[in-house]
Amino acid sequence: MLLSSQEEQYNVETGTIAVDFGRSDIYEKIEAGLAGLEIGVLVNNVGVSYDYPEYYLNIPDLDNFITNMVNVNITSVCQMTRLVLPRMNERSKGVILNISSASGMYPLALLTVYSSTKAFVDFFSRGLHEEYRRQGIIIQSVLPFFVVTKMTRIKKPTLDKPTPERYVLAELATVGLQSQTNGYFPHAVMPVSLLLYLLL
Ligand SMILES: NC(=O)c1ccc[n+]([C@@H]2O[C@H](COP(=O)([O-])OP(=O)(O)OC[C@H]3O[C@@H](n4cnc5c(N)ncnc54)[C@H](OP(=O)(O)O)[C@@H]3O)[C@@H](O)[C@H]2O)c1
Repeated sequence: MLLSSQEEQYNVETGTIAVDFGRSDIYEKIEAGLAGLEIGVLVNNVGVSYDYPEYYLNIPDLDNFITNMVNVNITSVCQMTRLVLPRMNERSKGVILNISSASGMYPLALLTVYSSTKAFVDFFSRGLHEEYRRQGIIIQSVLPFFVVTKMTRIKKPTLDKPTPERYVLAELATVGLQSQTNGYFPHAVMPVSLLLYLLL
């Protein structure tokens, strides 16, 4: 329903491959689904966080929690890149946007696994950008602070907690200009504002 209305609104053809990124045995299916497609842009957006901040040992069902979060937040980024980058490399053209998080910029206690997975995404993106930028491929690490989405459960947008539409509009303007970005000006100055708040 959503896809067909977007097809009409933007006059584009869309397709879906339904998979659970919490699993690691899905990439053959995705590879088959992508066969024959010329992929210009890959956005590694899928992600999961904690239901609530918690001490590591108190996380319910910790074993599965770890597997799921590592598969969704880390394995997906590496594997999707593995599937898409070879053709981009052949064509010397392509953009990969990896959605990390500001929580990957500093260790975040009580969200430690999430914060660490996002630090991985940031390092992976920046390393890979250095490897492939001379071939004309852009690999960008995107580190948002809060955005109004299902994940944050924030309902009311504010200047520093934008809607996804507002955030994405600002973020896309940074592609090709910044290989690592907070993507939105109020988020880019957030660390400075926090510091000033603590100091003054
Ligand atoms: N919102 C923020 O403030 C914020 C800040 C920093 C970084 N980020 C990052 O931004 C990205 C997008 O998050 P969001 O805020 O838009 O959260 P969201 O609304 O919860 O979106 C996450 C998306 O991932 C999908 N997903 C989750 N687990 C999946 C799985 N096992 N298999 C397939 N799809 C799965 C969800 O699908 P369903 O809708 O079907 O559940 C949803 O479409 C994430 O990587 C997140 O870490 C968000």
